[in-house]
Amino acid sequence: MNILVINGPNMNLLGEREPEIYGSATLEELMMWLETSPEATGHNFKFYQSNHEGQIINTIHDERHWAQGIIINPAAFSHYSYAIRDAISAVNIPTVEVHLSDIYGREEFRQVSVISKICVGRVSGLGKDSYLEGLTILLRHIITD
Ligand code: DQA
Repeated sequence: MNILVINGPNMNLLGEREPEIYGSATLEELMMWLETSPEATGHNFKFYQSNHEGQIINTIHDERHWAQGIIINPAAFSHYSYAIRDAISAVNIPTVEVHLSDIYGREEFRQVSVISKICVGRVSGLGKDSYLEGLTILLRHIITD
């Protein structure tokens, strides 16, 4: 399967950004760990990070004929970007939303995700394992669908 992994704003600062919430691994380490996990064997990955909503949307558009599944951590865009939500709906590619932290146990504004409903799965609060669990859910969905 061809899997597009997208990380939203401020995720480029992982490792130094609030490590007590987001952990000490950098984004590169986290993505490498995911790509080399046994669950990832035999699958192709493209990794993309942006701090800009429009660039995330353009990437979803540009990769729509390549990607068979998307794992996205929209970061703060999760809570208000109808445009990213519409982009995911538009390309109609199975997508799993992941978060390192437990967004439902944090500030009120984080407890709403406008992306969740159009995703085939959502994982939050497992740290880096959220990505692995997200991959497992995505593959199971694509293979059994
Ligand atoms: C996050 C949670 C979001 O609320 C926050 O804005 C992030 C990271 C997470 O992975 O826990 O940037 O998506």
